[in-house]
Amino acid sequence: MQVIRSPAVMTAWAEAERRAGRRIVLVPTMGFFHEGHLSLMRLAAGHGDRVVVSLFVNPAQFGPGEDLAAYPRDFERDRDLAGRSGVDVLFAPDVEDMYPPGFQTTVSVGDLTRHLCGSSRPGHFDGVATVVTRLFGITRADAAVFGEKDFQQLAVIRRLVADLNLGLEIIGHPIVREEDGLAMSSRNTYLDEDERATALCLYESLRLARREVAAGVRDCALLRERVRAHILARPGTEIDYVALVDTATLEPCERVTDTTLLAMAVRINNRVRLIDNGLVLTGT
Ligand code: PAF
Repeated sequence: MQVIRSPAVMTAWAEAERRAGRRIVLVPTMGFFHEGHLSLMRLAAGHGDRVVVSLFVNPAQFGPGEDLAAYPRDFERDRDLAGRSGVDVLFAPDVEDMYPPGFQTTVSVGDLTRHLCGSSRPGHFDGVATVVTRLFGITRADAAVFGEKDFQQLAVIRRLVADLNLGLEIIGHPIVREEDGLAMSSRNTYLDEDERATALCLYESLRLARREVAAGVRDCALLRERVRAHILARPGTEIDYVALVDTATLEPCERVTDTTLLAMAVRINNRVRLIDNGLVLTGT
């Protein structure tokens, strides 16, 4: 596996691969790999001839007071894990190379970014959409893989790729969970033992909602209240949002259908913000 730091070198490599008729699949990441990232890399390998993993903690998607400085980083460990996961290039640019002097473009997606994480993290999706568009350009990717844990992010990226005719395939990967159901996240490393136990309330809530729906509940307001009560029963939790939304529009649903998604963001001890989601009528 090669490590490339320079965007120009990355593009030259990608152009040569494309000229040779090879299909490039990109896995954009912010590093500190866990099994969730590794499964995105394995999925990417099955969708093309070359896998590029980008590792860039993107300052533009963190708001003031968020965890940019504290975000976990371990380049050597990430390089070893990627090297053992079928990755051809680890693209790890510096901030100055991704946002060089004179950079002044922002990619901004409309309505889809106004809900859920978009309302509690203003500017977050502009940062994501801008960096991802730039990564697509630099790596000349034919396809890119994203996890469904960031369901809204995936929806926003699909929208921007369609709206801007970027012509690359976007592939979603189901949430990867720990054995007890906690959705894998680099931010889980912030949790101490008690907080880790508290964090399970997200997955428990998803299971609770699915049980209620299986028992016939279709009123989204009622489901939302039951989920909120379940989360708030755990000391140290603060709800950022609990929403039942349609997967296509991310607009709130009144009645449960087979495209109704429960999406949650919860702060633990006012320190660690975790998200999770899942369909409530089908799936596991
Ligand atoms: O999901 C992430 O890790 C980031 O938002 C992404 C897509 C790599 C953009 O910085």
